[in-house]
Amino acid sequence: MKENKYDDNTFFQKYSQMSRSQKGLQGAGEWETLRRLLPDFKGKRVLDLGCGYGWHCIYAMENGASSAVGVDISRKMLETAKEKTYFPEIEYICRPIEEVDFPEESFDIILSSLALHYVVDYENLIKKIYKMLKHGGNLVFTVEHPVFTAYGTQEWHYNENGEILHFPVDNYYYEGKRTAVFLGEKVIKYHRTLTTYLNTLLMNGFTIKNIVEPQPPQDMMDVPGMKDEMRRPMMLIVSARKIK
Ligand SMILES: C[S@@+](CC[C@H](N)C(=O)[O-])C[C@H]1O[C@@H](n2cnc3c(N)ncnc32)[C@H](O)[C@@H]1O
Repeated sequence: MKENKYDDNTFFQKYSQMSRSQKGLQGAGEWETLRRLLPDFKGKRVLDLGCGYGWHCIYAMENGASSAVGVDISRKMLETAKEKTYFPEIEYICRPIEEVDFPEESFDIILSSLALHYVVDYENLIKKIYKMLKHGGNLVFTVEHPVFTAYGTQEWHYNENGEILHFPVDNYYYEGKRTAVFLGEKVIKYHRTLTTYLNTLLMNGFTIKNIVEPQPPQDMMDVPGMKDEMRRPMMLIVSARKIK
């Protein structure tokens, strides 16, 4: 069964306190990097998989998209998204990403920000995305980096003085389910190798335009814990285009 952690009251409350929840895209460390990789939205039909509060749908509309559809498994996240959204052209659908199935070539751009590591069957999803995108359409997604998801717990290892020793990486080639600790709560995620993330695109009709492992922005370095983000990659950004 698919986990719907963001509908859990405690988790939802904690998530709502994060900088990216309070400040929107400007509060997300990767935003400036991601923004530069986004295609031109003018007149485009956009789908956002795992849209959360809807920040990326709203951004797409603010930048000229003709319509946007945000899909998320969490009712609570979508309730917040609807409160924040002032564009009637945005439709929010409460559904697991795995069950999304629009007709062929329904979208010009498909986005997904930090949600695909919750999906078990990545290849099946990429095949569906291929079908739903028009020819020449763009797929841009961010996921937790395979170095970050490999071991599972996603916690630093500390010495007896409480100082960080290192971040554990283990079982890298064993893909599949992991139980991570995020915001002090157990959350199920799915680990995949970098090869799987990229080759699955290449083998299913996409060309890769850009790959970035974003570093924390200089102006956020004073945020507690941010300097430690230079010690290992936490995120992977991929931009691809449907070619065939
Ligand atoms: C880290 S949040 C990111 C939200 C948003 N994309 C952003 O960047 O602000 C992950 C989102 O993915 C959603 N999610 C997790 N698993 C999902 C699934 N199987 N189907 C649809 N949404 C899912 C969660 O409910 C949550 O809103």
